[in-house]
Amino acid sequence: MKGLINHDDIAKVLLSEEQIKQRILELGAELRRDYANVEGEIVLICILKGAVMFFADLARAMDLNLQMEFMGISSYGNERRTSGIVRITKDIDTSITGKHVIIAEDILDSGLTLSYLVKMLEGRGPNSVRIVAFAIKDIPGHTPAIQPDYVGTHVPNEFIVGYGLDYAERYRNLPYIGVLKPGVYTK
Ligand code: PRP
Repeated sequence: MKGLINHDDIAKVLLSEEQIKQRILELGAELRRDYANVEGEIVLICILKGAVMFFADLARAMDLNLQMEFMGISSYGNERRTSGIVRITKDIDTSITGKHVIIAEDILDSGLTLSYLVKMLEGRGPNSVRIVAFAIKDIPGHTPAIQPDYVGTHVPNEFIVGYGLDYAERYRNLPYIGVLKPGVYTK
C-alpha cells in the first residue's frame, strides 16, 4: 500500500465532500437544539475507527459543551455479524453515570454492534443514551437490530468506503463517500 489513492477504484460517489459538510451542519443544528438546555454533562463517544471523521466534524458542528471520548471495539472473527457480541479493546476514560451519552457511529448495517454497545453503556447508569449514525445501509427485507435517534443518510447495500469507512483499512481518508468497484475486493 503506497502512493496516491486511486480514485478510479470508486464506482460512484454517493455523497460529495460538500454534501457531507452540509449534512453535518444540519445534524449539528438538530443536536444543538435538542441538547442546548439539558442539565448535566454531555459525553460524545466516537466508535473507532470508522466514526473518526464524522465524530470530529459533528463535535464542531454541535457547538455544545461536551466531553469527547473514544471507544475501540472488535469482533471475534466474524462472530459479531451473527451474535452481536463485541469486545471492548479501548474503553472510554470517564464515568458516564448521570451524564447524557451520545454515541457517534459511521454506519449501521445489521445494527448488532450498536445494540450491544447501548445495552453495555446503559448498564453504567447514564442519564440518557442516544445514537447518531452518519449512514444506515438499506438492506431490502432486513430491519436493523436498533434504530439510531439521528441519521445522516441512507446508503445502498453495496461496498461503501470513504469518510472513515474502509476496505482492508484503506480509503478511510477519502473526503467523500463512494461505492467501491467490485473488481477491487474480488481481486
Ligand atoms: C463497522 C461500523 C460499525 C459496524 C456496523 O465497523 O463502523 O461499527 O461495522 O455493523 P453492524 O451494524 O452490522 O454491527 P468495523 O467492524 O468495520 O470497524 P471499523 O469502524 O474500525 O472500520
